[in-house]
Amino acid sequence: MSSQCNKKLDMIGRIDKLKTLRDFEKCALEESLDYYAKLYFSAGACSTSTPKHNEDAFNRYKIRPRVLRDVSKTNLECHLLDCHVSCPIGISPTALHCLAHSEAELATARGCCKEGCVFILSSSASRSIEEVATEVSNLKETPPALWMQTYIHNDRSITLDIIQKAESFGFSAIVVTVDSSSSALWKKVMPDEFFEMVSPKMPNLPSLPRLISDNSVTFEDLKWVVENSKLPVIAKGILSGEDAKAAVECGVSAIMVSNHGGRLIERVVSTIEVLEEVVDAVNGKVEVYMDGGIRRGSDVFIALALGAKAAFIGRPVIWGLSVDGENGVRKVLQILKEELLITMQVAGAQSIEDIKRSMVVKI
Ligand SMILES: Cc1cc2nc3c(=O)[nH]c(=O)nc-3n(C[C@H](O)[C@H](O)[C@H](O)COP(=O)(O)O)c2cc1C
Repeated sequence: MSSQCNKKLDMIGRIDKLKTLRDFEKCALEESLDYYAKLYFSAGACSTSTPKHNEDAFNRYKIRPRVLRDVSKTNLECHLLDCHVSCPIGISPTALHCLAHSEAELATARGCCKEGCVFILSSSASRSIEEVATEVSNLKETPPALWMQTYIHNDRSITLDIIQKAESFGFSAIVVTVDSSSSALWKKVMPDEFFEMVSPKMPNLPSLPRLISDNSVTFEDLKWVVENSKLPVIAKGILSGEDAKAAVECGVSAIMVSNHGGRLIERVVSTIEVLEEVVDAVNGKVEVYMDGGIRRGSDVFIALALGAKAAFIGRPVIWGLSVDGENGVRKVLQILKEELLITMQVAGAQSIEDIKRSMVVKI
Protein backbone atom coordinates (compact mmCIF):
# COMPACT_ATOMS: atom_id res chain seq x y z
CA MET A 1 0.00 0.00 0.00
CA SER A 2 2.99 2.28 0.16
CA SER A 3 3.68 2.61 -3.55
CA GLN A 4 3.79 5.92 -5.32
CA CYS A 5 0.76 4.84 -7.30
CA ASN A 6 -1.34 4.30 -4.21
CA LYS A 7 -0.40 7.74 -2.97
CA LYS A 8 -1.50 9.15 -6.28
CA LEU A 9 -4.73 7.17 -6.26
CA ASP A 10 -5.45 8.28 -2.70
CA MET A 11 -5.10 11.83 -3.88
CA ILE A 12 -7.33 11.55 -6.88
CA GLY A 13 -9.93 9.36 -5.26
CA ARG A 14 -9.02 5.69 -4.86
CA ILE A 15 -8.59 2.61 -6.95
CA ASP A 16 -12.18 2.86 -8.22
CA LYS A 17 -10.91 5.28 -10.85
CA LEU A 18 -9.30 2.29 -12.62
CA LYS A 19 -12.00 0.81 -14.84
CA THR A 20 -10.15 -1.52 -17.19
CA LEU A 21 -7.12 -3.80 -17.13
CA ARG A 22 -5.42 -1.24 -19.38
CA ASP A 23 -5.86 1.36 -16.62
CA PHE A 24 -4.14 -1.04 -14.22
CA GLU A 25 -1.36 -1.68 -16.73
CA LYS A 26 -0.76 2.02 -17.18
CA CYS A 27 -0.78 2.72 -13.48
CA ALA A 28 1.53 -0.22 -12.71
CA LEU A 29 4.02 0.58 -15.45
CA GLU A 30 4.04 4.33 -15.00
CA GLU A 31 3.79 4.54 -11.25
CA SER A 32 3.88 1.54 -8.99
CA LEU A 33 6.53 -0.87 -10.34
CA ASP A 34 10.19 0.05 -9.96
CA TYR A 35 12.69 -0.09 -12.82
CA TYR A 36 13.70 -3.76 -12.51
CA ALA A 37 10.16 -4.97 -11.75
CA LYS A 38 8.74 -3.19 -14.78
CA LEU A 39 11.40 -4.68 -17.03
CA TYR A 40 10.94 -8.18 -15.59
CA PHE A 41 7.16 -8.35 -15.73
CA SER A 42 6.86 -6.75 -19.17
CA ALA A 43 9.68 -8.73 -20.74
CA GLY A 44 9.05 -10.86 -23.79
CA ALA A 45 11.49 -12.80 -25.94
CA CYS A 46 14.18 -10.25 -26.94
CA SER A 47 11.79 -7.32 -26.48
CA THR A 48 8.60 -6.17 -24.84
CA SER A 49 6.68 -6.49 -28.12
CA THR A 50 6.42 -10.32 -28.36
CA PRO A 51 3.75 -10.63 -25.66
CA LYS A 52 1.59 -8.12 -27.56
CA HIS A 53 1.10 -10.63 -30.38
CA ASN A 54 -1.07 -12.72 -28.08
CA GLU A 55 -3.24 -9.68 -27.39
CA ASP A 56 -3.41 -8.58 -31.03
CA ALA A 57 -4.47 -12.04 -32.21
CA PHE A 58 -7.83 -11.59 -30.48
CA ASN A 59 -8.60 -8.82 -32.99
CA ARG A 60 -9.03 -11.53 -35.63
CA TYR A 61 -12.16 -12.78 -33.87
CA LYS A 62 -15.53 -11.04 -33.58
CA ILE A 63 -18.49 -11.89 -31.42
CA ARG A 64 -21.82 -12.59 -33.13
CA PRO A 65 -24.54 -12.07 -30.52
CA ARG A 66 -27.80 -14.01 -30.38
CA VAL A 67 -30.82 -11.96 -29.34
CA LEU A 68 -34.02 -12.39 -27.35
CA ARG A 69 -32.59 -14.95 -24.97
CA ASP A 70 -33.57 -14.63 -21.34
CA VAL A 71 -30.31 -13.50 -19.73
CA SER A 72 -31.84 -12.22 -16.51
CA LYS A 73 -30.06 -14.88 -14.44
CA THR A 74 -26.69 -14.98 -16.15
CA ASN A 75 -24.21 -16.94 -14.12
CA LEU A 76 -20.43 -17.34 -14.50
CA GLU A 77 -19.98 -20.28 -12.14
CA CYS A 78 -18.43 -23.48 -13.41
CA HIS A 79 -16.23 -26.43 -12.45
CA LEU A 80 -12.55 -26.82 -13.29
CA LEU A 81 -11.21 -30.31 -12.54
CA ASP A 82 -14.17 -30.81 -10.20
CA CYS A 83 -13.45 -27.60 -8.26
CA HIS A 84 -16.38 -25.24 -8.13
CA VAL A 85 -15.21 -21.74 -9.13
CA SER A 86 -16.96 -18.38 -9.40
CA CYS A 87 -15.95 -17.94 -13.04
CA PRO A 88 -13.83 -19.51 -15.79
CA ILE A 89 -10.97 -17.06 -15.14
CA GLY A 90 -7.84 -18.23 -13.31
CA ILE A 91 -4.40 -16.95 -12.42
CA SER A 92 -1.42 -18.33 -14.34
CA PRO A 93 1.81 -18.96 -12.45
CA THR A 94 4.16 -15.98 -12.47
CA ALA A 95 7.36 -15.74 -10.49
CA LEU A 96 8.61 -13.25 -7.93
CA HIS A 97 5.54 -11.34 -6.79
CA CYS A 98 7.81 -9.73 -4.18
CA LEU A 99 8.93 -7.38 -6.96
CA ALA A 100 5.36 -6.10 -7.22
CA HIS A 101 4.29 -5.89 -3.58
CA SER A 102 5.75 -6.54 -0.13
CA GLU A 103 3.10 -9.17 0.66
CA ALA A 104 3.88 -10.89 -2.65
CA GLU A 105 2.05 -14.19 -3.35
CA LEU A 106 0.24 -14.04 0.01
CA ALA A 107 -1.76 -11.04 -1.18
CA THR A 108 -2.30 -12.56 -4.63
CA ALA A 109 -3.54 -15.84 -3.18
CA ARG A 110 -5.92 -14.08 -0.78
CA GLY A 111 -7.30 -11.91 -3.58
CA CYS A 112 -7.92 -14.93 -5.82
CA CYS A 113 -9.52 -17.00 -3.08
CA LYS A 114 -11.83 -14.17 -2.10
CA GLU A 115 -12.88 -13.85 -5.74
CA GLY A 116 -13.47 -17.60 -5.99
CA CYS A 117 -10.81 -18.08 -8.71
CA VAL A 118 -8.13 -20.72 -9.24
CA PHE A 119 -4.65 -19.57 -8.24
CA ILE A 120 -1.60 -21.33 -9.68
CA LEU A 121 1.45 -20.77 -7.48
CA SER A 122 4.71 -20.58 -9.44
CA SER A 123 7.58 -22.78 -8.23
CA SER A 124 9.66 -19.60 -8.65
CA ALA A 125 7.39 -17.73 -6.26
CA SER A 126 8.87 -15.49 -3.61
CA ARG A 127 6.79 -17.13 -0.86
CA SER A 128 6.95 -20.79 0.08
CA ILE A 129 4.29 -23.39 -0.60
CA GLU A 130 3.75 -23.65 3.19
CA GLU A 131 3.30 -19.89 3.65
CA VAL A 132 0.75 -19.59 0.85
CA ALA A 133 -1.20 -22.64 2.05
CA THR A 134 -1.27 -21.31 5.63
CA GLU A 135 -2.33 -17.87 4.47
CA VAL A 136 -5.38 -19.14 2.58
CA SER A 137 -6.29 -21.64 5.30
CA ASN A 138 -6.74 -18.66 7.64
CA LEU A 139 -9.38 -17.10 5.40
CA LYS A 140 -13.05 -17.48 6.14
CA GLU A 141 -13.67 -18.02 2.41
CA THR A 142 -12.79 -21.56 1.35
CA PRO A 143 -10.20 -21.38 -1.42
CA PRO A 144 -11.82 -22.77 -4.55
CA ALA A 145 -8.61 -24.23 -5.87
CA LEU A 146 -4.88 -23.81 -5.37
CA TRP A 147 -2.76 -25.45 -8.03
CA MET A 148 1.03 -25.80 -7.90
CA GLN A 149 3.30 -25.24 -10.89
CA THR A 150 6.60 -27.02 -11.42
CA TYR A 151 9.18 -27.65 -14.11
CA ILE A 152 10.80 -31.03 -14.72
CA HIS A 153 14.19 -30.33 -13.20
CA ASN A 154 17.44 -32.02 -14.07
CA ASP A 155 17.54 -33.16 -10.45
CA ARG A 156 14.14 -34.90 -10.32
CA SER A 157 14.12 -34.78 -6.53
CA ILE A 158 13.44 -31.02 -6.80
CA THR A 159 10.30 -31.72 -8.86
CA LEU A 160 9.25 -34.53 -6.52
CA ASP A 161 9.72 -32.33 -3.48
CA ILE A 162 7.45 -29.64 -4.99
CA ILE A 163 4.78 -32.21 -5.90
CA GLN A 164 4.85 -33.80 -2.45
CA LYS A 165 4.72 -30.46 -0.64
CA ALA A 166 1.77 -29.38 -2.80
CA GLU A 167 -0.02 -32.63 -1.94
CA SER A 168 0.58 -32.29 1.76
CA PHE A 169 -0.41 -28.62 1.91
CA GLY A 170 -3.81 -29.11 0.28
CA PHE A 171 -3.16 -28.01 -3.29
CA SER A 172 -5.55 -29.71 -5.71
CA ALA A 173 -3.55 -30.03 -8.95
CA ILE A 174 -0.02 -29.97 -10.35
CA VAL A 175 0.70 -27.75 -13.34
CA VAL A 176 3.80 -28.98 -15.12
CA THR A 177 5.29 -26.45 -17.50
CA VAL A 178 6.54 -28.31 -20.56
CA ASP A 179 7.56 -25.44 -22.83
CA SER A 180 10.86 -24.39 -21.27
CA SER A 181 13.40 -26.65 -22.94
CA SER A 182 15.92 -23.85 -23.23
CA SER A 183 16.90 -20.68 -21.51
CA ALA A 184 14.18 -18.17 -22.38
CA LEU A 185 14.95 -15.17 -24.56
CA TRP A 186 13.30 -12.74 -22.12
CA LYS A 187 16.53 -12.96 -20.16
CA LYS A 188 18.20 -10.92 -22.92
CA VAL A 189 16.26 -7.83 -21.94
CA MET A 190 17.33 -8.00 -18.30
CA PRO A 191 20.53 -6.50 -16.90
CA ASP A 192 22.92 -9.13 -15.42
CA GLU A 193 22.66 -7.77 -11.89
CA PHE A 194 18.93 -8.61 -11.87
CA PHE A 195 19.62 -12.35 -11.65
CA GLU A 196 22.00 -11.97 -8.72
CA MET A 197 19.41 -9.78 -7.03
CA VAL A 198 16.48 -12.22 -7.30
CA SER A 199 17.98 -15.71 -7.07
CA PRO A 200 17.92 -15.76 -3.23
CA LYS A 201 14.23 -14.80 -3.30
CA MET A 202 12.77 -18.14 -4.44
CA PRO A 203 12.21 -20.30 -1.34
CA ASN A 204 10.72 -23.28 -3.22
CA LEU A 205 13.84 -23.86 -5.30
CA PRO A 206 17.42 -24.74 -4.38
CA SER A 207 20.14 -22.48 -5.68
CA LEU A 208 22.60 -23.29 -8.45
CA PRO A 209 24.34 -25.67 -9.18
CA ARG A 210 21.45 -27.99 -8.11
CA LEU A 211 19.04 -25.95 -10.18
CA ILE A 212 19.97 -26.82 -13.73
CA SER A 213 17.20 -27.02 -16.25
CA ASP A 214 16.90 -30.29 -18.15
CA ASN A 215 16.54 -29.89 -21.91
CA SER A 216 16.45 -33.64 -22.53
CA VAL A 217 12.90 -34.05 -21.20
CA THR A 218 10.36 -35.94 -23.32
CA PHE A 219 6.80 -37.17 -23.00
CA GLU A 220 8.21 -40.07 -20.93
CA ASP A 221 9.13 -37.50 -18.28
CA LEU A 222 5.64 -36.04 -18.38
CA LYS A 223 4.36 -39.57 -17.76
CA TRP A 224 6.81 -39.78 -14.85
CA VAL A 225 5.23 -36.65 -13.32
CA VAL A 226 1.73 -38.14 -13.70
CA GLU A 227 2.87 -41.42 -12.10
CA ASN A 228 4.50 -39.59 -9.24
CA SER A 229 1.62 -37.30 -8.41
CA LYS A 230 -1.49 -38.16 -6.41
CA LEU A 231 -3.04 -34.97 -7.80
CA PRO A 232 -4.36 -34.37 -11.31
CA VAL A 233 -1.65 -33.07 -13.63
CA ILE A 234 -2.07 -30.23 -16.13
CA ALA A 235 0.44 -29.88 -18.99
CA LYS A 236 1.11 -26.16 -19.51
CA GLY A 237 2.70 -24.84 -22.69
CA ILE A 238 1.12 -26.98 -25.41
CA LEU A 239 0.66 -25.30 -28.82
CA SER A 240 -0.26 -28.12 -31.19
CA GLY A 241 -2.93 -30.78 -31.51
CA GLU A 242 -0.36 -33.55 -31.84
CA ASP A 243 1.43 -32.60 -28.63
CA ALA A 244 -1.92 -32.30 -26.88
CA LYS A 245 -2.82 -35.86 -27.91
CA ALA A 246 0.56 -37.15 -26.74
CA ALA A 247 0.09 -35.39 -23.38
CA VAL A 248 -3.35 -36.96 -22.99
CA GLU A 249 -1.78 -40.37 -23.62
CA CYS A 250 0.61 -39.65 -20.75
CA GLY A 251 -2.40 -39.41 -18.45
CA VAL A 252 -2.71 -35.66 -17.88
CA SER A 253 -6.06 -34.38 -16.66
CA ALA A 254 -5.94 -31.08 -18.54
CA ILE A 255 -3.97 -29.13 -21.11
CA MET A 256 -3.07 -25.46 -20.88
CA VAL A 257 -2.49 -23.85 -24.27
CA SER A 258 0.24 -21.31 -23.51
CA ASN A 259 3.33 -19.73 -25.04
CA HIS A 260 4.56 -18.51 -21.66
CA GLY A 261 3.27 -15.02 -22.32
CA GLY A 262 5.61 -14.61 -25.32
CA ARG A 263 8.70 -14.83 -23.10
CA LEU A 264 10.50 -17.83 -24.56
CA ILE A 265 11.00 -17.25 -28.28
CA GLU A 266 10.12 -14.64 -30.87
CA ARG A 267 7.58 -15.20 -33.65
CA VAL A 268 5.82 -17.90 -31.72
CA VAL A 269 2.18 -18.62 -32.64
CA SER A 270 -0.43 -16.79 -30.59
CA THR A 271 -2.34 -19.00 -28.21
CA ILE A 272 -5.83 -18.06 -29.35
CA GLU A 273 -4.88 -19.07 -32.92
CA VAL A 274 -4.06 -22.66 -31.96
CA LEU A 275 -6.67 -23.18 -29.28
CA GLU A 276 -9.28 -24.75 -31.58
CA GLU A 277 -6.78 -27.22 -33.01
CA VAL A 278 -5.90 -28.38 -29.51
CA VAL A 279 -9.55 -28.58 -28.44
CA ASP A 280 -10.38 -30.68 -31.52
CA ALA A 281 -7.38 -32.95 -30.97
CA VAL A 282 -8.22 -33.83 -27.37
CA ASN A 283 -11.84 -34.38 -28.38
CA GLY A 284 -13.33 -33.83 -24.92
CA LYS A 285 -11.04 -36.37 -23.21
CA VAL A 286 -9.56 -33.72 -20.89
CA GLU A 287 -10.23 -30.09 -20.09
CA VAL A 288 -8.41 -27.45 -22.15
CA TYR A 289 -7.43 -24.05 -20.74
CA MET A 290 -5.52 -21.20 -22.35
CA ASP A 291 -3.53 -18.14 -21.38
CA GLY A 292 -1.74 -15.32 -23.18
CA GLY A 293 -3.06 -11.86 -23.93
CA ILE A 294 -6.35 -12.01 -22.01
CA ARG A 295 -7.07 -8.39 -21.20
CA ARG A 296 -10.87 -8.04 -21.50
CA GLY A 297 -14.01 -9.99 -20.76
CA SER A 298 -14.57 -10.36 -24.49
CA ASP A 299 -11.18 -12.17 -24.78
CA VAL A 300 -12.38 -14.68 -22.20
CA PHE A 301 -15.66 -15.06 -24.10
CA ILE A 302 -13.83 -15.77 -27.37
CA ALA A 303 -11.54 -18.32 -25.70
CA LEU A 304 -14.55 -20.12 -24.21
CA ALA A 305 -16.41 -20.06 -27.53
CA LEU A 306 -13.38 -21.66 -29.19
CA GLY A 307 -13.54 -24.49 -26.67
CA ALA A 308 -11.46 -23.50 -23.65
CA LYS A 309 -12.93 -24.48 -20.29
CA ALA A 310 -11.19 -21.47 -18.72
CA ALA A 311 -8.88 -18.57 -19.58
CA PHE A 312 -5.98 -17.60 -17.33
CA ILE A 313 -4.18 -14.30 -16.80
CA GLY A 314 -0.53 -13.65 -15.96
CA ARG A 315 0.60 -10.02 -16.08
CA PRO A 316 -2.74 -8.32 -15.29
CA VAL A 317 -2.73 -9.80 -11.79
CA ILE A 318 0.77 -8.44 -11.21
CA TRP A 319 -0.45 -5.00 -12.24
CA GLY A 320 -3.31 -5.23 -9.75
CA LEU A 321 -0.98 -6.51 -7.03
CA SER A 322 1.49 -3.70 -7.55
CA VAL A 323 -1.20 -1.02 -7.52
CA ASP A 324 -2.99 -2.10 -4.36
CA GLY A 325 -2.02 -5.57 -3.09
CA GLU A 326 -4.89 -7.98 -2.43
CA ASN A 327 -7.43 -5.28 -3.22
CA GLY A 328 -5.83 -4.59 -6.61
CA VAL A 329 -5.83 -8.32 -7.47
CA ARG A 330 -9.52 -8.51 -6.57
CA LYS A 331 -10.33 -5.41 -8.61
CA VAL A 332 -8.62 -6.83 -11.71
CA LEU A 333 -10.62 -10.05 -11.36
CA GLN A 334 -13.86 -8.17 -10.70
CA ILE A 335 -13.37 -6.05 -13.83
CA LEU A 336 -12.81 -9.13 -15.99
CA LYS A 337 -15.79 -10.93 -14.47
CA GLU A 338 -18.08 -7.96 -14.99
CA GLU A 339 -16.95 -7.54 -18.60
CA LEU A 340 -17.49 -11.25 -19.23
CA LEU A 341 -20.94 -11.10 -17.66
CA ILE A 342 -22.01 -8.16 -19.82
CA THR A 343 -20.54 -9.78 -22.94
CA MET A 344 -22.47 -12.97 -22.21
CA GLN A 345 -25.71 -11.11 -21.66
CA VAL A 346 -25.46 -9.12 -24.87
CA ALA A 347 -24.36 -12.23 -26.78
CA GLY A 348 -27.33 -14.18 -25.43
CA ALA A 349 -25.60 -16.65 -23.11
CA GLN A 350 -27.12 -17.29 -19.70
CA SER A 351 -24.48 -19.74 -18.52
CA ILE A 352 -20.93 -20.69 -19.44
CA GLU A 353 -22.29 -23.76 -21.27
CA ASP A 354 -24.41 -21.44 -23.46
CA ILE A 355 -21.28 -19.91 -25.02
CA LYS A 356 -21.11 -21.64 -28.40
CA ARG A 357 -18.57 -21.74 -31.22
CA SER A 358 -21.12 -20.12 -33.57
CA MET A 359 -21.07 -16.96 -31.44
CA VAL A 360 -17.55 -16.14 -32.65
CA VAL A 361 -16.50 -15.42 -36.22
CA LYS A 362 -12.89 -15.46 -37.42
CA ILE A 363 -12.13 -12.62 -39.82
C1 LIG B 1 6.86 -12.22 -15.06
C2 LIG B 1 6.40 -13.57 -15.52
C3 LIG B 1 6.83 -14.69 -14.85
C4 LIG B 1 6.37 -15.96 -15.25
N1 LIG B 1 6.73 -17.05 -14.52
C5 LIG B 1 6.26 -18.27 -14.88
C6 LIG B 1 6.57 -19.41 -14.10
O1 LIG B 1 7.23 -19.34 -13.08
N2 LIG B 1 6.09 -20.61 -14.54
C7 LIG B 1 5.31 -20.73 -15.67
O2 LIG B 1 4.89 -21.82 -16.02
N3 LIG B 1 4.99 -19.64 -16.41
C8 LIG B 1 5.44 -18.42 -16.03
N4 LIG B 1 5.07 -17.33 -16.76
C9 LIG B 1 4.10 -17.46 -17.87
C10 LIG B 1 2.68 -17.29 -17.33
O3 LIG B 1 2.30 -18.41 -16.56
C11 LIG B 1 1.64 -17.14 -18.43
O4 LIG B 1 1.78 -18.20 -19.34
C12 LIG B 1 1.68 -15.81 -19.17
O5 LIG B 1 2.04 -14.76 -18.32
C13 LIG B 1 0.28 -15.54 -19.77
O6 LIG B 1 0.31 -14.41 -20.55
P1 LIG B 1 -0.21 -12.95 -20.08
O7 LIG B 1 0.84 -12.42 -19.17
O8 LIG B 1 -0.33 -12.23 -21.36
O9 LIG B 1 -1.54 -13.13 -19.38
C14 LIG B 1 5.51 -16.07 -16.38
C15 LIG B 1 5.10 -14.92 -17.05
C16 LIG B 1 5.53 -13.68 -16.63
C17 LIG B 1 5.04 -12.46 -17.36
